[in-house]
This record gives sequence, C-alpha cells and structure tokens, in this order.
Amino acid sequence: MNAEYDVLVSAPEISEKIRKLGEELTELYAGEEVVVIPLLRGAFMFAADLIRAMNLPVRVEFLGAASYGEETVSSGEVRLTLDTSFPLHDKNVLIVEDIVDTGLTLAYIQKLLQSRNPRSIRSVVLLDKPSRRTVEVDLHRTLFTIPDKFVVGYGLDGPGGFWRNLPDIVALREETENTHSE
Ligand code: PRP
Repeated sequence: MNAEYDVLVSAPEISEKIRKLGEELTELYAGEEVVVIPLLRGAFMFAADLIRAMNLPVRVEFLGAASYGEETVSSGEVRLTLDTSFPLHDKNVLIVEDIVDTGLTLAYIQKLLQSRNPRSIRSVVLLDKPSRRTVEVDLHRTLFTIPDKFVVGYGLDGPGGFWRNLPDIVALREETENTHSE
C-alpha cells in the first residue's frame, strides 16, 4: 500500500474489463473497419490496450481536446488542440475517452465529429463520474463508475502533468497533491 494515494481501480481489473470490451466491439463491428479516435492526452493508454483487444481492421487517429489546462476544475471552454488527418465520412468512428466528468469535452467532440457524417459514431469511456455531469452525453460503454474524487494514473494526469504512468487508477491523498508539482 502506498502512503501517497488510495487505489480505486487496479491494473488487473482494468485489463479484464478492456478484454471484455474488446470482444464485444469485435462482434459489434464484425466485417467492418473502425477508425478509433483516442482523445489526447488522457486516453492514450486506454486506447493502446483497447485496440490490442479488438480483432478488427482498425485505424487510429488522434484528437486533442483540453478544457482543464493546469487546473483541477474545468474552465468550461473546450479547445481543440489536434484534429484528425483524413475524412471521417461514412466511417465507423469509435471515440475513446479516459474520463467523463461534466461531459463538456465529449459532448463537444461528438458534435464536431457528427458534423463530418460518419457511418456510425460511438464513445467508449474508461471512467464515469456521473455525479459531476452538467451536459447529457451519449456513452456506448463506460468501464468503471467512480465517486467524485480527483483521480490519476493509467493515462490521467495530476498536478504538474505528472502521474500518468501509474498502472492503477488512484485517488491522491490531499497531503500528497503538491508533491509532484513543477
Ligand atoms: C480531461 C479528460 C477528459 C476531460 C473530462 O482532459 O481527459 O477529456 O477532462 O472532463 P469533462 O467531462 O468535464 O469535460 P484534460 O483537459 O485534463 O486534458 P488531458 O486529457 O490532456 O489530461
């Protein structure tokens, strides 16, 4: 047990859920190609594991979105920091997101990608914090529902942009929130 944080979801629990989601998506899209779009930066690790659990012809594109910056509370303003590189018209688009909090980021991205007339559009989300939702957002699958705690690890960052490389998803204890600041 680490004194700095409490583990909310362990690495083996994450792997097991991703394995099942991969199987489900493999059946759902059988015979079709999928464009997987992780939202940078937090979803990079989830997406890397998920695509290896999908036995399908998959292409990967990246979208960059930020609404928090260095803050722990959303600015409410979503900024696109990177766009996709090829047309999504008539493609099966699978958005991969690490966490849905207020829902602002994902709602913004869904609307943006819907306007490009994909064949289908679905969102799969690692962590859901429903208690914080301010806008409705359509989620195909969420792997874990968590309480309103500040979580880091498995791709999600904490103060100063650190903590993304922890294999588990953890809640930082208050006294340690400033120990990795720049
Ligand atoms: C985080 C997270 C989601 C978003 C969720 O991104 O990765 O994209 O916030 O919050 P919301 O539902 O309230 O919009 P952040 O801006 O911290 O960028 P990052 O992914 O680069 O860490």
